Amino acid sequence: MAGYIGWTGFGHFTHAVVRGVPASLAREALRTVGGAEVDLERARREHAAYVGVLRDELGLRVVELPAEESLPDCVFVEDAAVVCGDTALVTRPGARSRRKETEAMKAALQQLNLNIVEMTDESATLDGGDVLFTGREIFVGLSKRTNHRGAEILADAFKDYAVSTVPVLGGLHLKSFCSMAGPGIFVVGSSEPAQKAMKVMQEMSDHQYVKVTVPDDLAANCVYMNLPNKGHVLLHCTSEEFPASVKVFKKLKNYTLVPVSNAEKAKVDGALTCCSVLINKKA
Ligand code: GLY
Repeated sequence: MAGYIGWTGFGHFTHAVVRGVPASLAREALRTVGGAEVDLERARREHAAYVGVLRDELGLRVVELPAEESLPDCVFVEDAAVVCGDTALVTRPGARSRRKETEAMKAALQQLNLNIVEMTDESATLDGGDVLFTGREIFVGLSKRTNHRGAEILADAFKDYAVSTVPVLGGLHLKSFCSMAGPGIFVVGSSEPAQKAMKVMQEMSDHQYVKVTVPDDLAANCVYMNLPNKGHVLLHCTSEEFPASVKVFKKLKNYTLVPVSNAEKAKVDGALTCCSVLINKKA
């Protein structure tokens, strides 16, 4: 199948698109829970460290889009596009205040010569945070941000893959409590909504997945890559944030584990996968 990645090619990336942290993030970014004030400078330091890991430690070519003050959530680029192979679906984010984030993303993906598909149907909404690509299939979380029509359009864009929907009963997005930790390996939080969603995904799938459960839902959002000279790489939360969950990651064999702090962005529902769109561009 043209474009099919499978587990062998899973996690191979050459480029990342990221975006700066606007000052407006601190007071105006959307959030599901109020309370904790965002320390803007700390958020910017954390984000710079994240981008530094992608570029300097892992050797990806990083395209950095400038922060846009009128788009407080713009650092969370994952929601604006879903890239699989050479195809990029520019989404229609569920939150109105986030729709214009797609403009700069589309331009960046065009520059990278990807085949662009745009979600123009006004009845559709989809955030990339609800899209879990396993290498063999795609799960789309139906959440407050993503609806059935959004999932249908995604399925049309990525015809090489089976696409299944799963209800998101807690958290903002599907990937607010789960992600991939390797080919065929799910990592999932231990809350009831997280475990229920995982059960639905495993029951719907024709593939066998290993499930790694971590105590904290937010810690289950990791970035997995398989890189030349590095092998299996997992960016995950730090021991300061989630000590019990990090103990689980430390048991993974033959991994380069890269702890990355995300404490400030987490206050406005940002997770590690949210802050980059990863791309594999063949030479
Ligand atoms: N603050 C991230 C979002 O609500 O989309």
